[in-house]
Formats: sequence, C-alpha cells, structure tokens
Amino acid sequence: MFDDVINFVRTLYGKEGDIPLHSPLFIGNEKKYLEECIDSTFVSSAGKFVEQLELKIAHYTDANYAIATSSGTSALHISLLMSGVSQEDEVITQPLTFIATCNAISYCGAKPIFIDVDKDTLGLSPEALQSFLEKNTLVKDYQCINKNTGKIIKACIPMHTFGHSCRISEILEICSKYNITLIEDAAESLGSFYKGRHTGTFGSLGALSFNGNKIITAGGGGCIITNDIKLAKRAKHLTTTAKVSHKWEYNHDMVGYNYRMPNLNAALLLAQLENLEVFLKNKRETALAYEDFFSDKDFHFIKEPENSKSNYWLNTIILKDQKYRDLFLEETNSNGIGTRPIWTLMHKLSIFEKCQRGNLKNSEWLEERVVNIPSSVKAL
Ligand SMILES: Cc1ncc(COP(=O)(O)O)c(C=O)c1O
Repeated sequence: MFDDVINFVRTLYGKEGDIPLHSPLFIGNEKKYLEECIDSTFVSSAGKFVEQLELKIAHYTDANYAIATSSGTSALHISLLMSGVSQEDEVITQPLTFIATCNAISYCGAKPIFIDVDKDTLGLSPEALQSFLEKNTLVKDYQCINKNTGKIIKACIPMHTFGHSCRISEILEICSKYNITLIEDAAESLGSFYKGRHTGTFGSLGALSFNGNKIITAGGGGCIITNDIKLAKRAKHLTTTAKVSHKWEYNHDMVGYNYRMPNLNAALLLAQLENLEVFLKNKRETALAYEDFFSDKDFHFIKEPENSKSNYWLNTIILKDQKYRDLFLEETNSNGIGTRPIWTLMHKLSIFEKCQRGNLKNSEWLEERVVNIPSSVKAL
C-alpha cells in the first residue's frame, strides 16, 4: 500500500537495508579530539573542550552564556530550580512533548499544567495560553495565581517540536504580562530560528540536548543558554556540586548537582558542532525532497512555520486518521523504514493524568495522525 513511500525513502538515502529514523554521522574531527582528550587525561568534569564548546555554542546561538550539562533533562531541571520552581508551584507546558520536560518539572516537586499546541508549529499555542490564563488566573504581588488551586504558576516551558519553532515571541509577551518565567525546551532545535533569533534565547533560560538522536551529539549531554550573567554563574555552580572554587578545600555552599558535561563528551560534540552548517543544509535538502514528494499524496508534510527557520531535525507527516497511520507504521517498519508515531500525550500517562489542563483538541488530533519519517543527515 505504501510501496511508493518506501521506495522514495530508499532512493533518498541510496540504501537497501534498514533506514533508521535518525542516526548520528561522524565525518569530522571526532576521533582526533577524542584522542587528544584521552591523551590529556582530562576526560571528566574539567578540561579545555568543555570551555571551548560553551564559547562556541554561545557564539552560534548568540546567547551571552552557555553552560554545558550532562543532559538536556538536567539543563531543564537546573533552569526550573533557578527560576524558583519548587514544591507547591505549577508550571505550564504542552502535552505534546517528550517525557523529559515533565520529568524535570516533577523533580522540583511542581505540577505541570497542560495547554494545547498549534497544528502548524506543533508547539505551545499563544492563543490557548492567553485564554487559559485569562480565565483561570489573577496576578497578585507580581505573581500569577491559579484561581482553581491557589498555587503560583511560576514558569512556562514551551517546546520547539522536532526543530520547528513555536510562536515564541508571542508566548514571551504573554508570560511577561502574567509574571511567569519563560524557559524554552530547545532540546530538539539547535539550528532553528524564530524571527532571526535562535530558539532558546527568548526566555530567561533555554535548554538544548545533545543526546545520540539529536542533530549533533555528545553521546549524551545538554546545555543551558541564557543572556543573564547571574543565572549563568548560578547554573555553573549548581551543575558542579555547588563547590566553592578553591585550590584544595572541599566547600559546598548548597546542595548542588553532578550535572556537568564531561570533557570527553564535549570533545565529541565540538567536532560535531564544526559540521552543524553542513548538516543543516543536508537536512533542508531532504525536507524539500519530502515536501515535494508528499505534495500530491494523502499526507500533509509539516513545513517550517511562518517567520521561522527550522533545523528539520525530524521530518513529520500528518496522515488522515489513526487507522491509516497504524497501517503506515506497520508497513514501513516491517520493510526496514524507521518511522514513529508521536509520543503518548503527557496527560494520558498515569503519572500526569490528574494534572490540570486546558482544551487539548489540537494535541489529541495530532496524536492520532503524526508520524516521523527517516531524517538522518544523508552520507556525505
Ligand atoms: C523535547 C525534549 N526535551 C528534553 C529532552 C531531554 O534531553 P536528554 O535526552 O538530553 O536528557 C529531549 C530529548 O531527549 C527532548 O526531545
């Protein structure tokens, strides 16, 4: 039934065997930097690669500061802690996201509130956010109080889904009006821009991920980006066990975390970063080929939204209904083509089913129909 899609993906990747959804590509200085790192013996939490990497990420994203972390999840956790999120607080996010966004909220003891996404960006909808806040909250003493629970809504975490930017400047405006701190889950969107600005730099803090399935990888790793020097210093302190700098003394002035990216991972990532532009160009070509191919079929290909430039991390199509989607997933996967449905929506997981939510009709519509298709950088 889907032979034409299977054949097209095979032609695109020039491959007969299995074609994964996304795999990394190492074509640059990866081995050289890893060897250098091992020879230096600085493979762990200190070393020149971490510092070089932070400078390069800050430069690329045009953020004032970048703090490398052990994962995107730890970057989100620290960002929430620095925004003052604690037990009893609430944090707005979208139900259509990877579990890590909500896990990080839960690590702080806070509760997520789920607000719908837009169908074109797959990210948090500014209209749905505004409407929820208008109906359910009041601002008192510079804090946004949820009238239903009496709790403070401290932060909002929109996510730039599959590398497509959400309407982040509109979201920022709403959050500012309601005194809610904006943290961007930019785990999937290194190389994606909204109105010319890199995703993750609109809010107080942005979190990137360099997990093995991302556009570039450190094996495992993440990064916090911010323009605020105080937050940058605190992030570095909190991610390095809150150790007070001293040549030999062990003094920790608060309970910190072992969330620093190891130098070994930074060495790998630095080499990957050198090829980011090449990867972005290659992925854009793939996306355009898919867009063209799907234009006359029963599928809708998700293009980069208005005012934005996507990294096209994972290409996405929308199928007509769930039954058709399941047939597609079954046939493509059994023919070695790595396709995946979207995550189970967060409010449908037993751990979050009691959380407050707005009307989630777009998320639920998308959950039944969205499929990701092979998106790796093609061999160069
Ligand atoms: C949307 C989103 N948020 C957070 C994360 C967490 O990143 P990590 O796996 O590096 O912890 C990921 C990816 O893994 C993600 O896709």
